[in-house]
Amino acid sequence: MSFKEELQKRTEEIEELLRRYLPKEEGFQKTVLEAVNYSVTAGGKRLRPILMRETYRMFGGSGPVIEPYMAAIEMIHTYSLVHDDLPAMDNDEYRRGRKTTHAVYGEAMGILAGDALLNLAFETAAQAFELDLSERTAKAMRILAEKAGIYGMIGGQVVDVESEGYAISREKLDFIYRLKTSALIESSMMIGAVLAGATEDEVERIERTARDVGLAFQIQDDILDVTSTLEVLGKPIHSDEKNEKTTYVTLEGLDKARQDVEEISKRALATLASLERKNPFLEELITMLITREK
Ligand code: IPE
Ligand code: IPE
Ligand code: MG
Ligand code: MG
Ligand code: MG
Repeated sequence: MSFKEELQKRTEEIEELLRRYLPKEEGFQKTVLEAVNYSVTAGGKRLRPILMRETYRMFGGSGPVIEPYMAAIEMIHTYSLVHDDLPAMDNDEYRRGRKTTHAVYGEAMGILAGDALLNLAFETAAQAFELDLSERTAKAMRILAEKAGIYGMIGGQVVDVESEGYAISREKLDFIYRLKTSALIESSMMIGAVLAGATEDEVERIERTARDVGLAFQIQDDILDVTSTLEVLGKPIHSDEKNEKTTYVTLEGLDKARQDVEEISKRALATLASLERKNPFLEELITMLITREK
């Protein structure tokens, strides 16, 4: 099987897994349940659960305890997108090739669907304790919570939104990217490593690898915001300009941004290569992200 086919297969496995954890659309709160399912089933690359499972495999993990965490990280990521698109934040109308959640269900339901997904993520992750009541599972829960919170993704979104309309320094931009984007990728890969029993030193190297994967990923996202199309991306282009954001592209220019995506990804691969454990699929995935078009 080619890498592309292999990736496709793994993505479909995650679609299937996610469906098992999504709520039934019933009861008086049906609207929000529909909005939750609408947001999650829209597709998306499923990068974070893929990274989680591949890192788990890399350290010899095999059991099902990873599965609730895979669903949970995609729920947290999806909630972050639903809220990111709200009128009060980036105010965008398209996501994953369809109308954004707030555009279809209204702003209040957009807020509540995001809240619902964040909570559902922890309801789901907690199911891992029914499979394995160990220190590893507890540690994974702590990582999931911290990396999504005020010292992680939310913290990054705060500074991102607060910086709209201002020229900001490279130092501040790096801080925003490390938190708003790298944090959930760090969470994904670290949870995979921790649940498979990686040592502290190994988890630390995985965290550094993921930090660079996330940084390169966000720079590429900024590039695509100025070079792609709505049809290919599934979300509006020029969203950053509309919101007067300082991005890696406005600060460093397109050429340097492209160079740095490659350089930072190579640094991620080097950190990964410093580990004794190997996963060629994971290496190829990180390499492929350098030239991703969506
Ligand atoms: C979009 O994430 C938000 C960023 C962190 C740049 P993805 O590009 O992973 O979005 P989906 O999940 O594929 O829709
Ligand atoms: C968002 O960054 C990162 C999140 C934590 C959601 P962007 O605002 O650039 O993400 P897109 O371009 O809307 O996907
Ligand atoms: Mg944003
Ligand atoms: Mg946005
Ligand atoms: Mg963007």
